[in-house]
Amino acid sequence: MSNKYHIITFGCQMNEHDSENIGGMLEDMGYENCDDKDNANIVILNTCSIREHADERFYGKLGQLKKKRLGDPNYVVAVCGCMMQQEHIVKNMKKKFPWVDIIFGTHNIEEFPRLLQTCMEKRSKVKEILSDRDLVPERLPSSRLYKYKSFVNITYGCNNFCTYCIVPYTRGREKSRSIDSVISEVKFLVADGVKEITYLGQNVNSFEDPDGRDFTDLIYETNKIEGLERIRFMTSHPKDLSDRLIKAYADCDKLCNYIHLPVQSGSTEVLKRMNRKYDRDRYLGIVRKIKEMVPDITISTDIIVGFPGETEENFSDTLDMIKEVKYDSAFTFLYSIRKGTPAGEYDDQIPEKIKHERFDRLLNDINKITADKNREYVGRIEKVLVEGISKNNKSKLVGRTEGFKLVSFFGEANLIGEIISVRIINANTFSLEGEML
Ligand code: SAH
Ligand code: SF4
Ligand code: F3S
Repeated sequence: MSNKYHIITFGCQMNEHDSENIGGMLEDMGYENCDDKDNANIVILNTCSIREHADERFYGKLGQLKKKRLGDPNYVVAVCGCMMQQEHIVKNMKKKFPWVDIIFGTHNIEEFPRLLQTCMEKRSKVKEILSDRDLVPERLPSSRLYKYKSFVNITYGCNNFCTYCIVPYTRGREKSRSIDSVISEVKFLVADGVKEITYLGQNVNSFEDPDGRDFTDLIYETNKIEGLERIRFMTSHPKDLSDRLIKAYADCDKLCNYIHLPVQSGSTEVLKRMNRKYDRDRYLGIVRKIKEMVPDITISTDIIVGFPGETEENFSDTLDMIKEVKYDSAFTFLYSIRKGTPAGEYDDQIPEKIKHERFDRLLNDINKITADKNREYVGRIEKVLVEGISKNNKSKLVGRTEGFKLVSFFGEANLIGEIISVRIINANTFSLEGEML
């Protein structure tokens, strides 16, 4: 009987992708993936620190492992990810959770097999955290979540230092891979059955190959890959989004007509204090250009409510913004103080009650807009990449349109992984319903 591992992943696609690599390395060591933490021999928690809520969820999950770990000397608990890149958190961990076996960070995931071996051989606690890395990891094994779609990291880290954000401190300085190594990875994935790739980076638009080629060059190169059907990317920072990239939407048939373009706030004043380096007019100008070039583009965004000093007037600029852009979807967040970030020190923090009240108003307006946008799809025929069986109805399948809209429809499981035509027959706020043609 082989040993089993179980990974619990918090946070963004970066972390999901890191977990795929950790899983891949463990499988190379002879471990098998297991859905149940209690039946596994090793449990890894890959943490996120983007908001306080993420930290709390991690502590909750970790607490649940204590009894099993203390009762079973052969059970290994490992913790990694963005939380572990913060000294004050690691200190707290060692005090409150001394039974955790392995602690490592975001800059040395490729070292995990060695750390695990040391822990097992010496029966000792292991902690290794690096403050940054020089080279990006290449060609790590991967246990992919999906057979036919895959994330591909193109940059690591972030240099933007938005004043609210912890990521530049947990992921280090921005580093780009070379176009050649990215393209060879995509070709390998396509040969393995992948139809859709999503390029990942905190700001893909600042990607720069060691030869000086940029993100748009990468898109044009990727579009030439035979057998690949869809290209997506995230996240696009508005400050670095070029006209060439907008034109690539028209030129590259594989580039999906979808963009995630976080605005964070509709107020120029707040954007300045967030250090976002664009203002309201510039953002709206970009959206106008994209919509002119790609009339059927779908746009999603991230919005923070209750950033320090946000006035009622600033907030109403955000409400106006969403009405003007008419987002297809928006992820809304209550501002959360992150220790070590500039905004965490600002003394004009917004009271929780006001934050929540604004959050509810924003959500209400956004839901109306997304429902209206979805209704426009009724009657249209959309190409859908079938992703799996619906959680709500076992005889239905779910998939994504090019514009990243979730569609459910009746169909057989053998269609999973295929791109098929679906007529949209009904629209809900967060999804569409269709019928196969
Ligand atoms: N690199 C991406 C975002 C990564 S974090 C970008 O620049 O768009 C994902 C989202 O979390 C951010 O877009 C932001 O909206 C939100 N976020 C980050 N820090 C936050 C904080 N301290 N409080 C609330 N939301 C935050
Ligand atoms: Fe955070 Fe800003 Fe970097 Fe995004 S661009 S990861 S929000 S600092
Ligand atoms: Fe969280 Fe780290 Fe991603 S803080 S959002 S897991 S980069």
